[in-house]
Amino acid sequence: MLWFRVPEKVYLKRGCLPFALEELKYDLNKKKVFIVTDKFLFENGYTKVITDKLNELGIEHTTYSNVTSDPTLECGIEGTKAMQEFKPDCIIAVGGGSAMDAGKIMWVMYEHPELKFDEMAMRFMDIRKRIYKFPKMGEKAYFVAVPTSAGTGSEVTPFTVITDEKTGIKYPLADYELMPKMAIVDCNMMMNSPKSLTSATGIDALTHCLEAIASMMATDYTDGLAKQSLKTIFEYLPRAYDNGANDPEAREKMANAATMAGMAFANAFLGVCHSMAHKLGAYHHLPHGIANALMIDYVLRFNSSEVPTKMGTFSQYDHPNTLRKYAEVAEFIGIGGNSDEEKLENLIKKIDELKEHIEIKKTIKDYGVDEKVFLDTLDEMSEMAYDDQCTGSNPRLPLISEIKEMYLKAYYGK
Ligand SMILES: NC(=O)c1ccc[n+]([C@@H]2O[C@H](COP(=O)([O-])OP(=O)(O)OC[C@H]3O[C@@H](n4cnc5c(N)ncnc54)[C@H](O)[C@@H]3O)[C@@H](O)[C@H]2O)c1
Ligand SMILES: [Fe+2]
Repeated sequence: MLWFRVPEKVYLKRGCLPFALEELKYDLNKKKVFIVTDKFLFENGYTKVITDKLNELGIEHTTYSNVTSDPTLECGIEGTKAMQEFKPDCIIAVGGGSAMDAGKIMWVMYEHPELKFDEMAMRFMDIRKRIYKFPKMGEKAYFVAVPTSAGTGSEVTPFTVITDEKTGIKYPLADYELMPKMAIVDCNMMMNSPKSLTSATGIDALTHCLEAIASMMATDYTDGLAKQSLKTIFEYLPRAYDNGANDPEAREKMANAATMAGMAFANAFLGVCHSMAHKLGAYHHLPHGIANALMIDYVLRFNSSEVPTKMGTFSQYDHPNTLRKYAEVAEFIGIGGNSDEEKLENLIKKIDELKEHIEIKKTIKDYGVDEKVFLDTLDEMSEMAYDDQCTGSNPRLPLISEIKEMYLKAYYGK
């Protein structure tokens, strides 16, 4: 059996946010809203459109605005404490992936203070068939996600990551119970995103599509969303990057593309590009999207091998067909070639052109990561990437030495 899950409600269209919030009062009868966001967004008025509307609706609210990027356990505990005092019946997480992920963590701790992260953060292959039963969510509070970057897709994914700042251990949590109940995708919240955020988050969404398509757990449903999202990103990310707030159409297309990519990987999961990007980000402090952008070309070639050293295993997946799938993607977005190999190379060329347009540098070295420091951390990073949650759904099971090789290529360039 396979299935496909998304939040019960996804609102979209520029300007939809205040209208969607009316549902909290008129359909859901919510009385107390707890907003989770970061300092920058709070101080720059990103939550005002929400609080103004809540005031108009007569819904009581309070805001926690201390989310850090890559949310920490400390931040989660602090926010949960405020939540326990306020006792909301609705949580609205507003922000990029960090604020939405922090909101999910606080939601878990608010609903189930008795639970321990190391127990919840169990490793699994397919979250539909895990042994650990994640506790029921949504009994105390309804969870709404409002993305301000296009993006991580966290508004429609059942994932979050929390870092214990004392030990450095990251606890990835994944279960459909963690899926937001409502996502409100209003590109008005993204209009003034700086170029660096537009490019890093846009390319993150592109890698979500490519990894969901290659995943052993891809289905017709996830493929459809990922392909359409990819096509949209190629067309509109350069425009969103160049024109910013002057091109609302491009902003809106990118907002939808990121959410659609989120829906795809919420159900097909990711792959070794994200595994390597997670560790690259953790060890060398590169933004999540940039780390993915630096690895993706090598992953596409790596996954395309028809005779891999080791194949990924999943009951639905009987032979490597990734090269064909990438070629199908190329065909779908109008990239030609005389063979599947050529189509793949042309797809990579198009990705490289996109990266160049949105000013993403070519190598890890170009981002100022010191060679010695990189080489000193390489073995550990490679082992950790092998062990990452995302490796399991990659169509080709990498050897640690193969991960190391991809890291080296990405450091020096081909
Ligand atoms: N849960 C998931 O499914 C999932 C998927 C991918 C990534 N993530 C996580 O998401 C995080 C990264 O999220 P992100 O890339 O969206 O960045 P972010 O949330 O860390 O935000 C980066 C910066 O951009 C600012 N910002 C956000 N929106 C803005 C806007 N509209 N205008 C101006 N500034 C704005 C923020 O205030 C912050 O300073 C990572 O922690 C990553 O692990 C989660
Ligand atoms: Fe990502």
